[in-house]
Amino acid sequence: MSETGQAVLDAIRSRRSIRQYSDDPVSDDDVRAILEAGRWAPSGLNNQPWRFGVVRDPECKNTISELTRYREIIRNAPVIIAVFLDNDAGYDRVKDCQSIGACLQNMWLATHTLGLGGVWIGEILKNKERVAEILETPESHELMAVFAVGHPKHQQQESQRKELSELIFKEL
Ligand SMILES: Cc1cc2nc3c(=O)[nH]c(=O)nc-3n(C[C@H](O)[C@H](O)[C@H](O)COP(=O)(O)O)c2cc1C
Repeated sequence: MSETGQAVLDAIRSRRSIRQYSDDPVSDDDVRAILEAGRWAPSGLNNQPWRFGVVRDPECKNTISELTRYREIIRNAPVIIAVFLDNDAGYDRVKDCQSIGACLQNMWLATHTLGLGGVWIGEILKNKERVAEILETPESHELMAVFAVGHPKHQQQESQRKELSELIFKEL
């Protein structure tokens, strides 16, 4: 396998949810690189239904943080990226949501590759209308996730997965 190929597999394997951050700011270049990775995600019919709200402003971040039980993550992350589905750009609900998932995974892998840490916050979707109001999004935008990014406070995050044998239900 090429070195690049191995690096991609290593990034997929070593990426973790990072929920604690140092006080170091995240550079504009890094935020741009994360958004670029999201932009290059695949989508059905290449409809690219993702839209991004980037929030660094502490006051705005604090207001949004009150909408989730994971408020500390959002408060402490130097930057959060709210990822929306633009329903005006959508054509098939399932496929549009799958595309948003691909977009977020790209962003997450880019974050990890840049030496930063991120976490996908889905719990806040219970208040997705409120987040949209705060960010004054167009009517067609529906919140899909908030992605929090910062410099990891530590590197010891562990995670587990089911064995492949539990997941492959048939192999002919
Ligand atoms: C759709 C989705 C929603 C998630 N929502 C949250 C969340 O609200 N809060 C949180 O702390 N982590 C959330 N996570 C992160 C998962 O808990 C995490 O990916 C999982 O436990 C595996 O750990 P790992 O990412 O470190 O491998 C979410 C992940 C996904 C893909």
